[in-house]
Formats: sequence, structure tokens, C-alpha cells
Amino acid sequence: MGADIGVTGLAVMGANLARNLARNGYTVALHNRTSARTDALINSYSNEGTFVRTESLAELVESLERPRRVLIMVKAGAAVDAVIDELTGLLEEGDIVIDAGNSFYEETRRREAALAEKGLHFVGVGVSGGEEGALNGPSIMPGGSKKSYESLGPMLEKIAADYNGEPCCAWVGTDGAGHFVKMVHNGIEYADMQVIGEAFDLMRSLAGLEPAEQAGVFREWNTTDLASYLIEITSEVLEQEDELTGRPLVDVIVDAAGQKGTGRWTAISGLEVGSPVTTIAESVFARSISSQLGLREITNQVFPAGINEAVTAEELYGSGDARQDFVEDVRKALYASKLVSYAQGFDMLTAAAQEYGWELDMRTIASLWRAGCIIRADLLDTIMKAYEGSEEQPRNLLLAEEFTEAIAECLPAWRRVVAAAATYGVPAPVFSSSLAYYDSLRRDRLPASLTQGLRDYFGAHTYQRVDKPGTFHTRWSDDRTETEV
Ligand code: 6PG
Repeated sequence: MGADIGVTGLAVMGANLARNLARNGYTVALHNRTSARTDALINSYSNEGTFVRTESLAELVESLERPRRVLIMVKAGAAVDAVIDELTGLLEEGDIVIDAGNSFYEETRRREAALAEKGLHFVGVGVSGGEEGALNGPSIMPGGSKKSYESLGPMLEKIAADYNGEPCCAWVGTDGAGHFVKMVHNGIEYADMQVIGEAFDLMRSLAGLEPAEQAGVFREWNTTDLASYLIEITSEVLEQEDELTGRPLVDVIVDAAGQKGTGRWTAISGLEVGSPVTTIAESVFARSISSQLGLREITNQVFPAGINEAVTAEELYGSGDARQDFVEDVRKALYASKLVSYAQGFDMLTAAAQEYGWELDMRTIASLWRAGCIIRADLLDTIMKAYEGSEEQPRNLLLAEEFTEAIAECLPAWRRVVAAAATYGVPAPVFSSSLAYYDSLRRDRLPASLTQGLRDYFGAHTYQRVDKPGTFHTRWSDDRTETEV
């Protein structure tokens, strides 16, 4: 009997997925460019299940049951193409190639089309949950053909995270849909972390709450509607003391946030599908600014932070009830901003579904993120409710009954926090841009009419009128009368 699935690329994510599959009773053929990794895995974990050692892709393919399933877990980009190129010569019609890395969805679309011509299924699978999730149950977002899911789905569902008996894995849509959904997950992940960071900074700078004390605040918040994995681990990071200096670890970590690119892709793709994911994009920019260490140092010397302003702020928020009230305001600002990032993420999914002809089901997508993944949160249950029923889906999550009240309740606090941040010079780019998104959506008239007027003035770009159909131009450099064009 051949192996059920082959895994190539045995760095920690690949190795953990392979072990997860083996632990669930599948026979897993293993391959890595250097066999040392394959051997290390087999030596340490052969008691977990059945592994087949192979030394080349040809041998890997040879060892598999038909239709063959080969899971690639290599660095996104050229390495994926290199493995695919080698595999396609070895596989036969009906076989399935799975890319479980964080590949860009356009590349997945391209690869899927190319392999389909050869009669092969190419399945881009979004996998979230980090190393721990890959081993014990990640959230899995498969794309590719529906046909491929018949053979692959049961396996993936078995190794996925479980939420109240339901697997956090479901086919989300054709070709690159799985990677697209995972990309949006990561964009939301960026925003989730940024709003946590802004709350931390505001509570420290304006209310004098030190990291260890804030660990307690976040722990408390984790019992509210903010309950989520990222809030939970924030307490753990904040209470960690540095062994070397005895200072809070968060104070000795360089304040320059890295990124591998998925958040940036979300922002770019948001622009491409015409969905204004401002909160998500702002979170990406916040990381970029943090990384401009040299420029920040110079600017800090030219415009030093306003010490007097901070003193005033501490006087306002730094003790007793005022501090309590401020902390509660920050919690509400965080929650409202978080809602905006989810609303934008789902709006972008809706736009992409139209653009690429995917049958994305928003309720299902929310269900996949309830366990196993980095953004798992109680909020996702509420989002599922908002998308329940086939008719009357909310145009935007902020308009869902489940959230309109929450937004109204948070709004005064949200405005107070954004105002305080601006008054005392604490950057809160995502809190404020989320509020601006909300205010823009609800505004009856936006200054875009003036933009249109200006565009028409310098470039005859034309405009529409509010009172009659048609397209118009004012002869700005002539007699300034209007013509219909
Ligand atoms: C996950 C994570 C994981 C990884 C991302 C983000 O869902 O398990 O999103 O995929 O952490 O690559 O990484 P960056 O923050 O480095 O962009």
C-alpha cells in the first residue's frame, strides 16, 4: 500500500503538518531538499505514526497512492515554482498538488491554471495557527477545484482545529480563493496587533500604566467581548521580565515591527479590488514607520516628544477614577477599531468574490477563524450570526444588527481616546483611521464633490450632478457655462 500523502519541505511548518497527518492515522511520505531534516523528523517522531522516508521528489511521487496528493511547504515565491516544475513531470492526470505556504493568491491563480492544462489539480491552501497550530490543529482555508476537495477535504478536516465538534476547514472557493482568504486573515491579524499596541501605548503614556499592570488589564479584557487569542497572549508578553536586566521584556525588544508581506498584500489587493481597507493598510504603514529607526531618531531630536503635554495627561488620566474611566474608554476604542478592521476584511472578501467569480460564503469563512488561527476570537461567533440566513446579508458588517448597538455604545469613548491621542501627541493611527472610516461611511456629503470639481477644472474629467442624470463639464477656461458630455 502506498502512502496517503507526501510532504515536501520539512522546516518546522512542513514537519508539524506531516506529524499532524501521521498522528491522525495517515501514512505520510516525507521529502526535503537535504535528507538530514527528513531523518531528524523520523528519528524523533516515528512513534507518532507511519512515515515513509524518500530522498527525491521522484521517489516521493513513486511512494504515493493514486490520486496522489503532494503537499508543498516551502518558502513562498520561486521555491514553490521550482518544486512544481519538477513535480509536474512526475505526476499523472488527476493528481493533486497542494501549496500550504503563504503564497500570493495571484500566483496561485496562475499556477492553478497552468496545472489544470496538464490535468493536474493545484490547491492553494491557507493555513493559520503558526507552528503550534500546524501540529495540533490549524485553521485551514483550501481553494482549488471543488473536485480536488472530494479527495483532499476529509484529510484536511481531520487535521484541522476543532470548534465545538466542527472542523475549522472548508472549501472556500476556486483557484486562489484559499490563499486570498488567508491573506485577508493576515491583514486582520496585523490590525488586531496594532490596535492592541496602540491601547498599550496610550494607557502607558497617558495613564502611567506599566506593562506588568497592563497584563492584568488585558487579562480582564479577555473576559469581555474582546476575548481572543491575541488579547490573551498580550498579557503573557507584557508580564514577561527580561532575565538580563530585570526590566519588562517589552522594553528591551527593539520597537521595529517586521513583516513577511501578507499584510502588505492585503493592503495592495484591497486597492486593486476597490475595497478601502484603510485600517488594515494603516496597520501595515505603522509597521513600516516603526522600522524607520534612523529617521525616527533624528525626528525625535528635532521635535522632541512633548513632556509637558504628557504631564498634563497623566494628571488627567493617571489616578483613581479618571484612570479607570480612561482604561475603559481605551477598551471601547480598541473594540470599535477592531470591528472596523473585520468589516473592512469582509468587505474586501465580498469585492474579491465578485472580481474573481468566487462563491465565498462569509459565514463559513468566519466559522473557519473561530479556532486554530491567530485571530481566533469570540467576535467571530457574532460575525457568523450577522451573516446567518441567505437573504438580507449586511452590506457592511458595521450595519449588521449585531454591531450597530456596539458601535453606538463605543462611539463617545472612541472619540475621546482619538482626541486625547491627538492632543497629547501619542500616535494612534489605527484608532483614528478606523474612526475616520466610520465617519466617512456615515457622512451624508463628502468633500469628494470638490475633488470632482477640481479634476474637471484641470483635466476636464467631468462630473455627475445630484439633481439630474448625465455627465457634465464646466468650461472653466472659457465662459464657465456647463455642458453635458
Ligand atoms: C498564521 C500567521 C502566520 C505568520 C504570518 C505573519 O496565521 O499562522 O499569520 O502565517 O505569522 O506569516 O507574519 P508577518 O507578521 O511576519 O508578516
